[in-house]
Parts: sequence; C-alpha cells; structure tokens
Amino acid sequence: MRVLVVGSGAREHTILWKLAQSPSAPRLYSAPGNGGTGLIAENVAIGATEIDRLAEWALANAIDLTVVGPEDPLAAGLADRFRRVGLLVFGPTKDGARIEGSKAWAKELMNRYGVPTARSATFTSPTAAEEYVKSQPLPIVVKADGLAAGKGVVVATTHEQALAAISQLMRDKTTGSAGDRVVVEECLEGTEVSLLAFTDGSTVVPMVPACDYKRVFDDDQGPNTGGMGAYSPPRFVTRQMVEQIEETVLKPVVHGVAREGISYSGVLYAGLMITSNGPMVLEFNCRFGDPETQVILPRLKSDLLDVMLRTAEGRLGEIQVEWHDKPSCGVVLASGGYPGEFARGYPIAGLDSLDADALVFHAGTKRQGDDIVTSGGRVLTVVATGRDMREARQNAYRNAEKIRFTDIHYRKDIAAREL
Ligand code: AMP
Ligand code: GLY
Repeated sequence: MRVLVVGSGAREHTILWKLAQSPSAPRLYSAPGNGGTGLIAENVAIGATEIDRLAEWALANAIDLTVVGPEDPLAAGLADRFRRVGLLVFGPTKDGARIEGSKAWAKELMNRYGVPTARSATFTSPTAAEEYVKSQPLPIVVKADGLAAGKGVVVATTHEQALAAISQLMRDKTTGSAGDRVVVEECLEGTEVSLLAFTDGSTVVPMVPACDYKRVFDDDQGPNTGGMGAYSPPRFVTRQMVEQIEETVLKPVVHGVAREGISYSGVLYAGLMITSNGPMVLEFNCRFGDPETQVILPRLKSDLLDVMLRTAEGRLGEIQVEWHDKPSCGVVLASGGYPGEFARGYPIAGLDSLDADALVFHAGTKRQGDDIVTSGGRVLTVVATGRDMREARQNAYRNAEKIRFTDIHYRKDIAAREL
C-alpha cells in the first residue's frame, strides 16, 4: 500500500504519524511535507496546489490512496483530476469543497435543509450590503464569501466597523475575489467547538469534539492565527450534544449535498457555537482542522488507513470507528512575531529530550544538515494525553518547555478553561 499525503503542516504530519501505525504498514509519501514528515515519510518536492504534477507523480509511483490536508487543492479540483485518471482520493471534489469555498452556498444549503445557523443575508453589491447593515442590531458579522485564509471574517461591534469591513472586502478587494460576495450575519453568543466527521457521502461517523484557539495571545488577545493550540474533548460538549449535532447538522448536510447531485467524501468539519438555544453552525470546512487534528487523531483507536480507504471507496458503513477515552492537549510553538513578520532559520533544540509518550508534530520546520531549523510561523505542535485534562495539559506544557529556539512563542492557557 502506497499512500501520499498532500500538504506541509502539523495536520499532515499527524495524519502520516497515524497512518504509519497501520497494520498494513503503508509506504508513506508527503508532498511537499516538512522537516518532521521527512522522518516518517518520503518528502516529494511538489507543492500542494500543483495538481497536474501531483497527479502525474501519483500515477508514475502507483499511489493507492491520496489524502489531501488543506482546502486549496480540493477547491481547485485535485480530487476531480485524480479520480478522472483512476486514482483513489480521500477528500471531496471541487463541487463538495464549495461547502468551505462559498459561505453563501453553505448558508443556502443550511437554510434549505433546516440546519441551525445564524440568520444571514448575502450581497453582491456593497451599497445593498451597507444599507442592510445599517438596519441591523449589533454586534454583526461580515464574511467574505470565498476562501480568505482566515482573513475574511469581521465581528463588528459598531456600524462603522461593519461598513469598513464591507468596503475593504467588496471595494478594496483585500481578500481578492473572495469578497465578490459577502454574507452578513447575526452574531451568536456561546462557546465554540469543532466537530469533524468522516463521511463517504452516505454514512457519517463523527470524530471526538475538539476546541481550538485562534488568537495569538492568552485570553484570546491579539490577531487571528492559523491556530495556537487545541484540546479534546471539551467538557461542555456532552455525548448527547454530539448526537444532536450529528442528527441536526452533519447528516442533513451530507444527505442534502447528495440530493444536490454531489457525492461528498472525506472529512466534513463543522465549526459550531454552543448557544443557549443549542449548537449552531458558524462554518463548514471540507477537510481536517489544524490544530484540531493534532489532538483528535492521537485519540483514534481504529486503523486510520482502513477508515480512509473505506471512506474513499464508499464503504464506511462496514466498520465501527473507535476512540480512546484519554483526553489530549496540543500546544503550538510559534515563531515570535507570527502572524506578522518573523525570522526563519533558527535551530530547534530539545526535540530528543521529550518524554517517551509525548508527541511533536512539525509544521514550519526544515532539515538543514543534521539540524532541524524553523522555517515558518507555526513551527511545532506538542501534544500529550493524560488520565484527565489536567494531566494531559501538564504533560503537554512540560514537554513544550523542553523545546527551545530563538524568539519562541506559545500560549500558556490552552485547555485552562477545563480546570
Ligand atoms: P468562520 O471562518 O466563519 O468560522 O469565522 C471565523 C471566526 O469568526 C469563528 O471562529 C468565530 O469566532 C467568529 N464568527 C463567525 N461567525 C460568527 C457568528 N455568526 N457569531 C459570532 N462569531 C462568529
Ligand atoms: N482550526 C481551524 C481550521 O482548521 O480551519
């Protein structure tokens, strides 16, 4: 079995790490990968969105399964291209990836199938959007329709902020064509959780819930990042709530999408707000979350390769997916300055001094001679489990403290709300 994982973050390193434990002992490839993936897989120097080159390489190397980490290649049609030439892919086609790539379409779908979400309106004209915003109560949320790498959402507390956001997205095109349409929606109050599911287009298998931390500093201060840490499971999400989300969100969406003529397979990621009226959808992603994956997959008891193959082949209903009870906590070690300007190329020390059961997943790292050096904003995710969240958290931080590089920065409050 030969498996290619597309992407270069800690999410992809985690997927590879879990695949490496499969009893099928797959040969693993990572494109383009990073300094950590190169230790357990063969890094292939092709970018995640170079779809034609990836397809040619996968054909030439007789790849049995391709797993796609990030959204961009899916939105650009990687799965369509691969399937046309007979290659098996874990991840949705371009049509399915619209669930993440177009917030307006995701909203239409949710409204059509009765999925609980914030009240919203979609606009193609900035003037109409501005008129609407002025008539709405505060706070109000303005979102670019398209993929905007986390820069397309503004939670505005004043009308001026909302109007400025509309103007930037629609007139100044600060997120490019992502701002051709905007969704303006009601602001929801509550606590956020991510619930991801495996789906082959008919069977839906929820994973364990996880919480991520998007702001760069403790207490959710500072700018948004790709994610500074995560933990699983959150105490405020009960088993019963997971079932409720499965029935009111995940299944209606997967079955609704099928009714629209789209066979959706791979991961469906629901970003939810747990409100006083129950769980409501903030967004969907068409892929694994980062850093959620780093804390979810260590809790998976089943063989990930088997789950992924069955998902891709439409046979997910044939198995039970099992999870460990032990909670997990993951802390992202970042380059100081991220998500703004930061320096690269600092040697990373301490990687070989970690506890035997601590996990470290690489993102912005690369191999330089015998050293591993920093090469990105988010550098590593250190993950640990424990008998309870307190212990998982202590284990994660004790190991995070052993790692050193110049200007290291990480949040100290990951999972603190669970204590
Ligand atoms: P999204 O990319 O849609 O998940 O939005 C990014 C972040 O903006 C979310 O994780 C929330 O923190 C916030 N957000 C988005 N939509 C809403 C909403 N309707 N009410 C409150 N916060 C929101
Ligand atoms: N953790 C948020 C995301 O992966 O989009």
